[in-house]
Amino acid sequence: MVTCPGSIIIHFFLFSAPLLSVLWSCSSVSALKPRAFILPIEKDPTTLQYSTSIDMGTPPLTLDLVIDIRERFLWFECGNDYNSSTYYPVRCGTKKCKKAKGTACITCTNHPLKTGCTNNTCGVDPFNPFGEFFVSGDVGEDILSSLHSTSGARAPSTLHVPRFVSTCVYPDKFGVEGFLQGLAKGKKGVLGLARTAISLPTQLAAKYNLEPKFALCLPSTSKYNKLGDLFVGGGPYYLPPHDASKFLSYTPILTNPQSTGPIFDADPSSEYFIDVKSIKLDGKIVNVNTSLLSIDRQGNGGCKLSTVVPYTKFHTSIYQPLVNDFVKQAALRKIKRVTSVAPFGACFDSRTIGKTVTGPNVPTIDLVLKGGVQWRIYGANSMVKVSKNVLCLGFVDGGLEPGSPIATSIVIGGYQMEDNLLEFDLVSSKLGFSSSLLLHMASCSHFRLV
Ligand SMILES: *[C@@H]1O[C@H](CO)[C@@H](O)[C@H](O)[C@H]1NC(C)=O
Ligand SMILES: *[C@@H]1O[C@H](CO)[C@@H](O)[C@H](O)[C@H]1NC(C)=O
Ligand SMILES: *[C@@H]1O[C@H](CO)[C@@H](O)[C@H](O)[C@H]1NC(C)=O
Repeated sequence: MVTCPGSIIIHFFLFSAPLLSVLWSCSSVSALKPRAFILPIEKDPTTLQYSTSIDMGTPPLTLDLVIDIRERFLWFECGNDYNSSTYYPVRCGTKKCKKAKGTACITCTNHPLKTGCTNNTCGVDPFNPFGEFFVSGDVGEDILSSLHSTSGARAPSTLHVPRFVSTCVYPDKFGVEGFLQGLAKGKKGVLGLARTAISLPTQLAAKYNLEPKFALCLPSTSKYNKLGDLFVGGGPYYLPPHDASKFLSYTPILTNPQSTGPIFDADPSSEYFIDVKSIKLDGKIVNVNTSLLSIDRQGNGGCKLSTVVPYTKFHTSIYQPLVNDFVKQAALRKIKRVTSVAPFGACFDSRTIGKTVTGPNVPTIDLVLKGGVQWRIYGANSMVKVSKNVLCLGFVDGGLEPGSPIATSIVIGGYQMEDNLLEFDLVSSKLGFSSSLLLHMASCSHFRLV
């Protein structure tokens, strides 16, 4: 029995290995068991999307994928450049198809058979969260592996995950052009992290007997080689200079008993909901209709997290009192309000706002959560710079009746999660959150040697 000298190697990799986009294990020898995986997270400056990179197949095809914690699986567009000798289609009616919640049996029409376009293949429905549409995709298994470092040398820790289940969409297979519409330039698909049997954390945990957990540390900058992390398999979470797992507070992850999409079915939602009991501004409770904070029998209401929504969306009846209270408290601090800049509802002259280690010195916002813990949102996560002298409160009005059949009252967006460590524990169903790492002089945008 060989054990892994985990912390020493983790330390080495995180601080000194040539690791741009490296999926690591404690050894390259497949007989050894990896302790956890780490994937880099990049922020696209234009779309504000967060993405990572993996390799698929033999020979490996590099895929840059947008991270969507709502999506149920990994999907990518597979053109003629995906010709893999290690690909196996998942057939209709098999156990694996059932596990993937196959919704159709696919034939390869209008194209010669190729990797990702075969007959009698299990089909699911990949969702494009920006175009808000879906198509059928082929479920298949192939080797998932890491990228090479940019120096051209294969990282010492490269791990090959055999028979990883994902979904591929052949371009214009169903006459659908531009399935990647809305994804940041160069992105080839979506890495889904929802609570399903075939999401990346679940598959890796099952294959390598890891803790069924993943953690997100979204970067707040798009600067070259200042990257965030997606950890799969549990801590420790080395974010220089700390193991950030010690900063985590915990609150239960709730299951919305109703399907909340993207595909509506009879199953409970696979999204991540948390129980917000109240919202405080500078320590005082904001007067909102609390029934909007809980999930009702139809699945409406409540609070969920999303990595593809750039700024937190509040139901109008929460948004308005929150913005009003914020504006009042800001005025007490002699912060000057200026004309609002869409999509934001309250903007201020940044020259009248002081600075702190946690960003602009503005009223704090607390999400008071089940378990008596509070997720405090400081200026770095609440204020968005829209021009040289203007900072806006970075929340948006989600409206009274969003276009979806299920209306969630609060959707916590990417900007509010940046430089916060969030750990999703899929078995204990709890969310660990750190609040701003800036308080500890750490961040999610840390240096990687490339
Ligand atoms: C796919 O690869 C195989 C062998 O690796 C090769 O024989 C075949 O021509 C390739 N197909 C395409 C469409 O490139
Ligand atoms: C795949 O299915 C299509 C449509 O039914 C059919 O025309 C084609 O012959 C099939 N190909 C093979 C190799 O079975
Ligand atoms: C609070 O919100 C619920 C759900 O939207 C609604 O049915 C109820 O009428 C609201 N109560 C008040 C006092 O506005």
